[in-house]
Amino acid sequence: MLLERTLNAIASAAMQSALSLPEAPPALLRPTQDPKFGDYQVNGAMALAKQLGKKPRELAEPIAQKLLEHEAIEGAEVAGPGFINLHISSAWLGRELDAMYADLTRDGVDPVDVAERILVDYSSPNIAKQMHVGHLRSTIIGDALVKLLRFVGHDVTSVNHLGDWGTQFGLLIVGMREWGNQDALDQDAIVELGRVYALASARAKQDEAFAESARAELAKLQTGDAENTALWTRFVAATRKTLDVVYGQLGVTFDEWKGESFYHDQLEGVVQRLVAEGLAREDDGALCVFWNELPEPPKGLEKQKEPFIVRKRDGAFLYSTTDLAAALYRRDVMKADRVLYVVGTPQAFHFKQVFALSQLLGVTTRMEHVAFGSVLGEDGKPIRSRDGVEVTLQGLLSEAVERARARIQEGIDEGRLMIDPADLDETATKLGIGAVKYADLRQNRVSDYTFDWDKMISFQGNAGPYMQNAYVRCRSIFRKGEVDPDQLGGAVTLAADEEHALARMLVRFGDIVHQAAETSQPNYLCEHLFELSRSFSRFYEACSVLNAEDEATQQSRLRLTALVSRQLGRGLTLLGIDVVERM
Ligand code: ARG
Repeated sequence: MLLERTLNAIASAAMQSALSLPEAPPALLRPTQDPKFGDYQVNGAMALAKQLGKKPRELAEPIAQKLLEHEAIEGAEVAGPGFINLHISSAWLGRELDAMYADLTRDGVDPVDVAERILVDYSSPNIAKQMHVGHLRSTIIGDALVKLLRFVGHDVTSVNHLGDWGTQFGLLIVGMREWGNQDALDQDAIVELGRVYALASARAKQDEAFAESARAELAKLQTGDAENTALWTRFVAATRKTLDVVYGQLGVTFDEWKGESFYHDQLEGVVQRLVAEGLAREDDGALCVFWNELPEPPKGLEKQKEPFIVRKRDGAFLYSTTDLAAALYRRDVMKADRVLYVVGTPQAFHFKQVFALSQLLGVTTRMEHVAFGSVLGEDGKPIRSRDGVEVTLQGLLSEAVERARARIQEGIDEGRLMIDPADLDETATKLGIGAVKYADLRQNRVSDYTFDWDKMISFQGNAGPYMQNAYVRCRSIFRKGEVDPDQLGGAVTLAADEEHALARMLVRFGDIVHQAAETSQPNYLCEHLFELSRSFSRFYEACSVLNAEDEATQQSRLRLTALVSRQLGRGLTLLGIDVVERM
């Protein structure tokens, strides 16, 4: 059941029929800000009036009359310049919630009409470079999108486009020979390769012979030299081991690991195609796409003088070339209808060019850059390093768990929480990791946000532990009442204002999940869950559940509580956040 979609359709149809229009106009339905004015507002009459040159209120009147004929609508009043306030019938809401309650597998979230094949490219760190906080954001957002899109019925493949190829490997091969430490590589490949890479690149800047030998080793690797290929394989495997620790902490897995190296032998072909189709030409030895020289430059790139380089003077291919090859592969072999690139905002221009060029090569796949902002430290600068020391992701996640543990201990000492000592580790992990994820996902992803441990690991505000605790509160009601929340009798009846308010939040779930999935904005779901738990608190304060005045009321309120707990549980799970059953 997608209530808002249904209501939108009802309102559009009412507009068409009330005004005898040839087509149904958009209803522009919005939830009202203040429940005093009803549940929803229909704004479509105003836009329509402009088009038809009529007075909005005159159009709104017959539409409101028509709307009243529908069983879902209890009140429809024209207000202000010509919008219509809708009051949804409590009886109808109750029936919808009963249907949602009965739907244990989907909680009323209908699947999409047309399932698409969607590929989500996310996380994608680089070998020999520390995985930074941007990669953490990509991992968290990407994982939530994969789960959301899959749940609404798409056929989703998650891909880690690992940065496992490129000029750094020449330096790494000679550098490891010179300074490498095998034990350190086994311990933490990212740290060891990062250390050696820094030494090697510094040396190459001063020592031309060293730089030359790095280039020679790279050329050998790229032409398939067995020894260098073996070294490269070792670097990649060792890095994978370190990455798997981080992904394990986050509970994130990928369907496919297809890193940049996977496209290596397709790059020359891509470049040849660009030349053959007149899209790229030579410039000072390099192969470039000059946007401003194309007969029909893509929109927004007409004046772009700086070329898009696809092969360097020394014959090396670039990040851009690999992305073009990947775009072709994803359409031709993986048959993707849509590809999402979950990568930070600084790469916006890169993707704009990749998408434009892919289109010129005939790729019709819908490609979208799911961009996100930076995470800032308390000093307002992006957090990369602290006192000059790199913040490692593993370190950051472990710190989150330790801080969650301390908060839990506080709660236990103050008698607010009760946790079996045997469950403490698991609970601290779920709360700590969940807090990091929630803090990230609740943001509008394109804005920067400030990393704040205290706000993030909190049982009070809009934070992960608060949300997990809201779920626990519902579960404890069922335990206390000794009821199975999935086997309740009775039916939902809405009498008190708080019940109606809670119901109007609950029925939105399907719309919200779809909206979050379609727009790649998990923050819509976070917001819904937060508002839902606040609405539940108000309801719980005003209405007794286990001690309700009669059995029918008790069953109805238990049903509402069960729906809240299911939405919180399912919602958090879709965000990649583990729930805790008791604390
Ligand atoms: N490895 C890149 C980075 O760390 C991200 C790759 C994103 N995916 C892509 N297809 N370009 O910046």
